[in-house]
Amino acid sequence: MTESNYSGIIERYRTFLNFPQEAQIVSLMEGNTPLVPLKRLAARIHPELTLYGKFEGSNPTGSFKDRGMTVAVSVAAHEGRQAVMCASTGNTSASAAAYAARAGMRCYVLVPEGKIALGKLSQALVHGARVLEVAGNFDVALSIVREICAEYPIALVNSINPLRLEGQKTAAFEVVDQLGEAPDYHALPVGNAGNITAYWKGYREYFAQGRCHRLPKMLGFQAAGAAPLVIGRPVEYPETVATAIRIGNPASWQGAIAARDESGGWIGAVTDQAILEAYTLLASLEGVFVEPACAAPVAGIMQLATQGYLQFPCVAVVTLTGHGLKDPDVALRRAVTSPLKISATRDAVLRAVE
Ligand code: F0G
Repeated sequence: MTESNYSGIIERYRTFLNFPQEAQIVSLMEGNTPLVPLKRLAARIHPELTLYGKFEGSNPTGSFKDRGMTVAVSVAAHEGRQAVMCASTGNTSASAAAYAARAGMRCYVLVPEGKIALGKLSQALVHGARVLEVAGNFDVALSIVREICAEYPIALVNSINPLRLEGQKTAAFEVVDQLGEAPDYHALPVGNAGNITAYWKGYREYFAQGRCHRLPKMLGFQAAGAAPLVIGRPVEYPETVATAIRIGNPASWQGAIAARDESGGWIGAVTDQAILEAYTLLASLEGVFVEPACAAPVAGIMQLATQGYLQFPCVAVVTLTGHGLKDPDVALRRAVTSPLKISATRDAVLRAVE
């Protein structure tokens, strides 16, 4: 398939997906995202590390959620549903709203009040979703959504819908197609734990079909204030600057543990400070602008390298799950300088750039 006739993940990977043959595809041409070499960052971490970022911010709504949403919304429309609903820390709501708009469906999203990044909120609103700010966290919102969708003919498009994971596993296929082999390690941020579950499924299926000859060790990272998988029990009041992964009781808990154990990998926690340092390094050393959650696995790789856990030489891929423009507030707070106000003259400019 040439790039010019690329038409989204369902067309490209149809034979690997559980997708009804006769269903119309609702697509924004998601997927086909760049695998960006992160050479300067890798050199900072270890001389024998080859590091890539799977830049999922290049998806149409700026996050990896589009891969799953094209499948979930297409099937919902095929089944004659007229509305979709989800709980979200932001990106799922943005993606659901966009795909529902395209399919001519209504979209209801439940988000934790005051804890959703500005870009994501504006996306859900501009696409015409009914945005409900819940006085509670993501976990509470998800349990309400589960109850309502069990009772009413509304399609639930959170990742507990297996169609979401079907779509999201295509990112693992793309990594193998881009590298020519699976990496030694694959690291990603973990919130509700759907994505780590989906990647592991994708790698295993590609392996079973002989598309790769080894499997990566899966490395998942949570924020220290929202790390139920690390402490081994739900966190009632999760807190982190990485609002995308501010989740205390992941729905795909078992999937994440299986990915870790079957691959011989690791699930760890990183502090908000380490997340923000990695966030700044990605932006300043590599020109790669991500939202804070994506920096968690970068901080995690740094931590594991220091602790002697990683075996070198190695190839590691980090999923950069969402675009930096999603969360402009954090970007402005982290900026090393602020704009300088000057008069509109050549001399003022020259004085300022000295
Ligand atoms: N990174 C970003 C940018 C996310 O938005 C999410 C999840 C994750 C990582 C974690 O993925 O939940 O599959 O483990 N965001 C969801 C949302 C919860 O509502 O947008 P996960």
